Amino acid sequence: MKVFIIGASGLVGSNCQKHFTEQGWDVKGSYFSYPTQGTVFYNTLDPANAENFDIAAWKPDIIVHCGALTHVDYCETHEDESYQKTVQSTINIIALAKKCSARMVYLSTDYVFDGKKGPYKEDDPVNPVSVYGRHKLEAEQLVLKEVLGSLVLRVTNVYGNELRGKNFIARIIDQCRNNQKLTLKLPYDQFASPTNALDIARAMFVLLHDNKKGIYHIGSTDYMNRIELALRVLQYFPKAEYDLVPMNTAQLQQPAARPLIGGFIRSKFSSEYPVFLFGTVDSYLSEITKGY
Ligand SMILES: NC(=O)c1ccc[n+]([C@@H]2O[C@H](COP(=O)([O-])OP(=O)(O)OC[C@H]3O[C@@H](n4cnc5c(N)ncnc54)[C@H](OP(=O)(O)O)[C@@H]3O)[C@@H](O)[C@H]2O)c1
Repeated sequence: MKVFIIGASGLVGSNCQKHFTEQGWDVKGSYFSYPTQGTVFYNTLDPANAENFDIAAWKPDIIVHCGALTHVDYCETHEDESYQKTVQSTINIIALAKKCSARMVYLSTDYVFDGKKGPYKEDDPVNPVSVYGRHKLEAEQLVLKEVLGSLVLRVTNVYGNELRGKNFIARIIDQCRNNQKLTLKLPYDQFASPTNALDIARAMFVLLHDNKKGIYHIGSTDYMNRIELALRVLQYFPKAEYDLVPMNTAQLQQPAARPLIGGFIRSKFSSEYPVFLFGTVDSYLSEITKGY
């Protein structure tokens, strides 16, 4: 299987590139501003750019689109840029997938829901409450409509190994390891299912292998709010010093509204893959802090 991963310099994309390669697939991935080992340049917003890797000439069977502007509050105040980087970029990749006759995977989010009644199943009614959520929904619907056999994986609260260590858990770990005192102003009313990017890659692999299509919710068995998540991480750093300031979302005054009771019920995936085990925040932390 030949797979091209757009956004392989990022958290989910890099884990997909690593896992698919280990499984013996022929994989290439792209970066945009942050070159990483084994990635080639590709700008989804400028498909005619002469510096772009020629994906069509490489003829992938599958294109995984992990490229995105994921800063939810920035999207809220930069709506046009958010549209370009989420919807227009996806329109461009859809055209590319059609040109290559490739299947497509799109990474979406629980932000397509309003967060009043989570955790969510795939057929629950969508109702995004932010610009980011609206644009992700528009993009996933376009992919499903336009590319035959395409797959949408909705994910949330992703953590795991990544070079830049920019995810929520990685940033806490980094500060603990550098003996920095942490100030944690965190909401107690935002709930989701933290999920390891490697498990997303593993789930995507089996779904692609079995030619599955449509929407799948991919979330681990963990379900917690931001404070519980931070404390779970801090348990592994008993010497860490921190100030915890519990807040509710309204007090945080974030530009974008959040789906408060978010996260997923992944009974669709689990019924099709009953022996597939997801890791947890604890299993990840105990592994990476061994000998610390
Ligand atoms: N992380 C989460 O908690 C989370 C939750 C829900 C959904 N998702 C979705 O999962 C997907 C992957 O997220 P992630 O956390 O892996 O994001 P990420 O780490 O920020 O990676 C984003 C990737 O997109 C690339 N990119 C940005 N602009 C591009 C452009 N114009 N052309 C080509 N590539 C471009 C980046 O390249 P450079 O870094 O090289 O510039 C990077 O490789 C996204 O669709 C996101 O919406 C993530």
